[in-house]
Amino acid sequence: MSMPSPQPPDNDTASAAEHVERIEHRWAAVSVAIVVLLIAMATFSAVHQAAMPQARVETANPRALHLDGEFIESNLGTGVEPDGSVIVRGIGQQYSFTPSCVVVPADTPVTFRATSADVVHGFLIAGTNINLMLVPGYVSSLNARFETPGERLMPCHEFCGMGHEGMWGRVKVIDKAAFARLAANRRRLSCVE
Ligand code: CUA
Repeated sequence: MSMPSPQPPDNDTASAAEHVERIEHRWAAVSVAIVVLLIAMATFSAVHQAAMPQARVETANPRALHLDGEFIESNLGTGVEPDGSVIVRGIGQQYSFTPSCVVVPADTPVTFRATSADVVHGFLIAGTNINLMLVPGYVSSLNARFETPGERLMPCHEFCGMGHEGMWGRVKVIDKAAFARLAANRRRLSCVE
């Protein structure tokens, strides 16, 4: 007695299975292509960013800050520029800020520009999102606005040596009109007593 011969494959079922497999392969290829594309994009942007200079890098020679340029002593503190904007210039050094007390007007755009005379220091104003690193050789700049008058602490938040814990400054935010009266008499303001 002979075995029953295996059923011949159903032609329709076989071609349907092949069709599904082809679609699966195509989708697998698409998803691999997407992953490859994303990796290529991430690699390109990382390499591009690392290889290109920042849009604007400002430098300041840390050994000559007191001799010449933007950060000479007479230029430190808060000043009103000819166009009415308020700019605060400061220096961090082991272990203090100059000026150690900064006065700024409330409800006014203020630009901080600062650098370091020695090592890396941190520049942070408590209760705000103002947070910079002061790196010797470079100017750090940040635009800020203080809504209400008051006094805030300005600690160094980068370990900069044995005296780091004692490196503090203060920021006094005063009423706009009071600031304008002070600024009318002096080119640079600070609240260092
Ligand atoms: Cu300066 Cu820590």
